Amino acid sequence: MTHFSDRVERISISGIRKVFEAASEDAINLGLGQPDFPAPAHARQAAIEAIESGEADGYTENKGLLSLREAIAEKHHRDQGVDLDPDNVIATAGGSEALHLAIEAHVNEGDEVIIPDPGFVSYDALTKLAGGEPVPVPLRDDLTLDPAAVEEAITEDTAAFIVNSPGNPTGAVSPPEDMEEFARIADKHDVLCISDEVYEYTVFEGEHRSPIEFAETDNVVVVNSASKLFSMTGWRLGWVYGSSRRVERMVRVHQYVQACASAPAQFAAEAALTGPQDRIDEMTETFRERRDIVVDGLEDIGLRVPSPKGAFYAMPEVPEGFVDECLDRGVIIVPGEAFGEHGEGYARLSYATDTESLKEAIAIMHQAYDAVI
Ligand SMILES: Cc1ncc(COP(=O)(O)O)c(C=O)c1O
Repeated sequence: MTHFSDRVERISISGIRKVFEAASEDAINLGLGQPDFPAPAHARQAAIEAIESGEADGYTENKGLLSLREAIAEKHHRDQGVDLDPDNVIATAGGSEALHLAIEAHVNEGDEVIIPDPGFVSYDALTKLAGGEPVPVPLRDDLTLDPAAVEEAITEDTAAFIVNSPGNPTGAVSPPEDMEEFARIADKHDVLCISDEVYEYTVFEGEHRSPIEFAETDNVVVVNSASKLFSMTGWRLGWVYGSSRRVERMVRVHQYVQACASAPAQFAAEAALTGPQDRIDEMTETFRERRDIVVDGLEDIGLRVPSPKGAFYAMPEVPEGFVDECLDRGVIIVPGEAFGEHGEGYARLSYATDTESLKEAIAIMHQAYDAVI
């Protein structure tokens, strides 16, 4: 008798969780992947009104409320000039479900999915759950994904490659010419490019462009989410968009695993997308200031760190024993290998925490460094 599926036995609880569990309760947590800002007041208010009026009591359309999908289409038109039919959007339970739909709908048993290494933990796990084979590709020294490395990794078994800019765990932002290359590669090799753009609004240097702006075929699908754009991680509202034939396949999966995204969250996200956007600049500015504090602090310690151009993570190269020493001293950071084999020798720290805690954490990291070196 089979007790557990082979697919589920191929994955395990993420290394990030394990670090949290090992840390003491009063530790300074630089491991968290969520902005430390409240959700926009108008988003909360819209959910409250929808709940009180009863509008949020029932299922919505599988793809989500039309008004939400129109707001998402308008957002991508405004920000990327993408002409998007609201029918080609699915509102999901966060970017996480959006990634799951994209992979589940396009990856066959044994198919290869090229993923950045180090990269976001879900790419490897979701590929394995779909029966596919993750093909990790090491990053450049500046921690961006090299289109040439992706192209080289393509075989006849490749179903998809994943691009994530601004990147987790790296904070790297791919330049527009790389995004154009990713689109060309997807077109030329007829493989799907899954572009994970959940940190789109947090860019300090350079600009965010999407491969979908450049693609000539429908070989790009885009994943995005209210989680990091609007500091709404707990609302669990994301989306995926692409051509109608791809969306039609993804909605088949969505229909059975989710039915529809949570209705109150849909109302909240719609308000976040259509309401005042000033919070975004405020958050980005705050993250930029913290980025500078963190990069200066790490360099003072003597660590090499590619300066992050976006998101809210830094990924310094660290000596052996450094992560454990930080954990013992009460600063939670995540070992690079939690994000893939090539993350070894690095650590990820998130600066989605207040300036004072960051400065305190850096002082402790300095002591940890001196202790292991
Ligand atoms: C790169 C990346 N993609 C997707 C997600 C999923 O985000 P959510 O499901 O909260 O929208 C995360 C969350 O940390 C992430 O870092």
